[in-house]
Amino acid sequence: MTTLAIIGGTGLTSLDGLTISEHKFVETPYGEPSSPLLLGEYEGKKVIFLPRHGPQHTIAPHKVNYRANIWALYALGVEKIIAVAAVGGISRNLPPSTLAIPDQIIDYTYGREQSFYSDDFTADKHLDFTQPYDAELRQIILSAAIRQKIAITDGGTYGATQGPRLETAAEIRRLEQDGCAMVGMTGMPEAYLARELGMAYATCAVMANWAAGITDDAIQMSEIEHVLDKGMTQVKQLLAEIIRVQ
Ligand code: HPA
Repeated sequence: MTTLAIIGGTGLTSLDGLTISEHKFVETPYGEPSSPLLLGEYEGKKVIFLPRHGPQHTIAPHKVNYRANIWALYALGVEKIIAVAAVGGISRNLPPSTLAIPDQIIDYTYGREQSFYSDDFTADKHLDFTQPYDAELRQIILSAAIRQKIAITDGGTYGATQGPRLETAAEIRRLEQDGCAMVGMTGMPEAYLARELGMAYATCAVMANWAAGITDDAIQMSEIEHVLDKGMTQVKQLLAEIIRVQ
């Protein structure tokens, strides 16, 4: 059995049903992770949980110490990471509360530490990232969704924006022209850092809202929270199924 970790995002700061055996404080060469890692059992299987924005959601997307988070999971022997991410839907077939497993990323973030090798770089550290997500792990999630009869979209490009503000309508038009199906603030450099350490990584995206300008309405946080509650119920069901069969 390979050790599986779940990185929770907005709307998923804890996993109901996770019996926590240890709050593990992990020191890394890159500083502190967002939270102690929660080591436990879920449905009788070992799993590690890490809330990306901290236990109380106080760490903004551009302030997350992505290197420390990924390093800490690696140090504990994690081989597979399922990242849960709240996103805005751009593609018209991704309305609020639906789920998607993206297959590509465009990185619009800036000023984030992008690599574990920033200070001791060598030419062999230009890693292939043609397929940013692990194909096998994506299939594991998609198959679990089919078994649980959870509607889920296979594929789509995740546009990673800097945040913490939401985008302008013009920015979303640009992302749409670039081919983005959804937009979130945390997909990068998380996915690439996992690649650098040879860990399988896939994202389960939950549409929290229509991205800016897709409808005439302003984006309301209260509405996002309501929608996410619904989406996260399905995500939890999905995670339970994945963990059960691993
Ligand atoms: N944009 C960026 N990130 C997000 C959004 C959005 O509309 N919704 C949830 N996370």
